Amino acid sequence: GNKSINAKLVLLGDVGAGKSSLVLRFVKGQFIEFQESTIGAAFSSQTVAVDDATVKFEIWDTAGQERYHSLAPMYYRGAAAAIIVYDITNQASLERAKKWVQELQSQGNSNMVMALAGNKADLVDSRKVATEEAQAYAQENGLFFMETSAKTATNVNDIFYEIAKRLPRL
Ligand code: GTP
Ligand code: MG
Repeated sequence: GNKSINAKLVLLGDVGAGKSSLVLRFVKGQFIEFQESTIGAAFSSQTVAVDDATVKFEIWDTAGQERYHSLAPMYYRGAAAAIIVYDITNQASLERAKKWVQELQSQGNSNMVMALAGNKADLVDSRKVATEEAQAYAQENGLFFMETSAKTATNVNDIFYEIAKRLPRL
């Protein structure tokens, strides 16, 4: 029969990388130009059907502001999956993403499914991070990688779908 899986998923990444926008696109199919900076964290859920299972994501959208960093373990502890988000127009946001990957690798679930999202892929003229650089980093660190756009919806459902496919089947 078709399995039902509940999966806690956390989004981590720099301020303004687009975590909340990716969630809003995935959960409600919407985009807001003036999305407000997240305070603490925000919860939502969405269901994805893959070949043999229905995965209900319980999504924790964390705040990128540094003063909330100490809260992050509450959200990634016990998480089955993480999306680490950077902004392709901001090199520093990739460096911040790498710090999150290190933290998850040392403190997170050892079998956590991790995805690296290079968001704002629609802003081609302002690109600062080469696709190849992020792809190589992801490969070396066992993450899967996609460039996304919450604005145009490019690869947004896809990244959640790819995570759903990779979750361990209980
Ligand atoms: P914090 O909550 O402060 O950590 O930020 P965040 O990572 O949740 O970023 P947020 O989703 O609030 O997006 C920040 C800004 O970038 C907003 O003005 C969004 O409209 C914009 N934005 C987000 N995703 C995209 C995208 O894919 N393309 C473009 N062009 N703008 C985006
Ligand atoms: Mg946010």
